[in-house]
Amino acid sequence: MILNDILEPLHVKGVKIKNRIVFPAFQANYATPEGFVTDRLLRMYEKLARGGSGLIITGGMAVSDDGSQGTKVLKVNSDEHIEGLKKLFSVIRENGSVPAAQLVHAGRQTSSVMTGHPVVAPSPIPCPVMKETPRELDDAGIKRIQDDFAEGARRVKKAGAGLIELHGAFGYLIGGFLSGFSNKRSDKYGTDKSLFFTEIIEKVRQEIGDTPISCRISADEYVNGGLTLNETRKLAPQLVKAGADIISVAAGTYASINHMAPTKEMGEGVHVHLAGAIRDVVDVPVICAGNIRSLHYADKIIGEHKTDFAAIARPQLSDPFFVKKSIEKRPVEECTYCGKCMYFLSGESCVSCPRNPEL
Ligand SMILES: Cc1cc2nc3c(=O)[nH]c(=O)nc-3n(C[C@H](O)[C@H](O)[C@H](O)COP(=O)(O)O)c2cc1C
Repeated sequence: MILNDILEPLHVKGVKIKNRIVFPAFQANYATPEGFVTDRLLRMYEKLARGGSGLIITGGMAVSDDGSQGTKVLKVNSDEHIEGLKKLFSVIRENGSVPAAQLVHAGRQTSSVMTGHPVVAPSPIPCPVMKETPRELDDAGIKRIQDDFAEGARRVKKAGAGLIELHGAFGYLIGGFLSGFSNKRSDKYGTDKSLFFTEIIEKVRQEIGDTPISCRISADEYVNGGLTLNETRKLAPQLVKAGADIISVAAGTYASINHMAPTKEMGEGVHVHLAGAIRDVVDVPVICAGNIRSLHYADKIIGEHKTDFAAIARPQLSDPFFVKKSIEKRPVEECTYCGKCMYFLSGESCVSCPRNPEL
């Protein structure tokens, strides 16, 4: 096996990423209940960085008090978080990867019990999985959360993030605004469903200057009335126009969770066709995620110009040295796609992996 394209560095807005392998955002529920960095998180990301991915994106960090997507997620809702995040980003950088921060607001895909605040969304329609009827955001609420994204971006930049990813995928708040599945508004945020997101990108850009921005989207939501590739092929260039430097292609929502973290049976590279179709309509690099199980396969899809970066999550969770060992042609602890890491489905409190008991 000769690896060509995947080991080529790529510069994104002046930031050098040493290869095309990404550890994408993976919320492990290892933070403190208040959203601070823990030793366990530092250990996890140190190993992943030593493992060799060019870009490591932290699990979604909640920007607002009402926007947490889990009980122990990282938060960036106050300056107090900067110090811990400095340690987190340093440990990633010192071990050779570019540290990126993913910023998220959960929208209707959370619960008031979890956040201690009312659930908010573009329209008062419950998520079919979480089932709590959200409050419809008014203009002041929209502005508050957009400003929270900008403030969160300022904080993670100050803490040393080399890239900032805005989570517009999976039906969380930004994704909720983008989609007819959850956005039934008749105001300007309903007639132009991309407006909530493009305004956030512009506000974030004002705070962070030249730091690159990745926008993660579900290129197809795989739900009735939800986003389809036809729509997201129109959306992606709008995000680039607003300031996105990378489009990160994923798929699904809580109501189609098998696409958020695809099962083994769905096949290798289940969303490569989506990444390729988005890449055709934008002039910035694309990240593709979903059942990319070997560097050989990742190299192939990059060589075929279907994507610029390959995100590999669960295989790196199961063996944090997956990249290095694969390059050196050593055996890896292979992910069996047992589903144990999907702790929220099995009622467990955080991510675990039978293949990687040291997590
Ligand atoms: C437990 C778990 C947590 C995840 N957390 C996030 C997250 O915080 N943000 C995000 O954008 N994607 C998240 N994802 C999705 C992953 O980034 C990735 O797209 C998905 O696991 C598919 O890639 P893989 O087949 O290489 O695992 C998560 C997935 C799992 C299983």
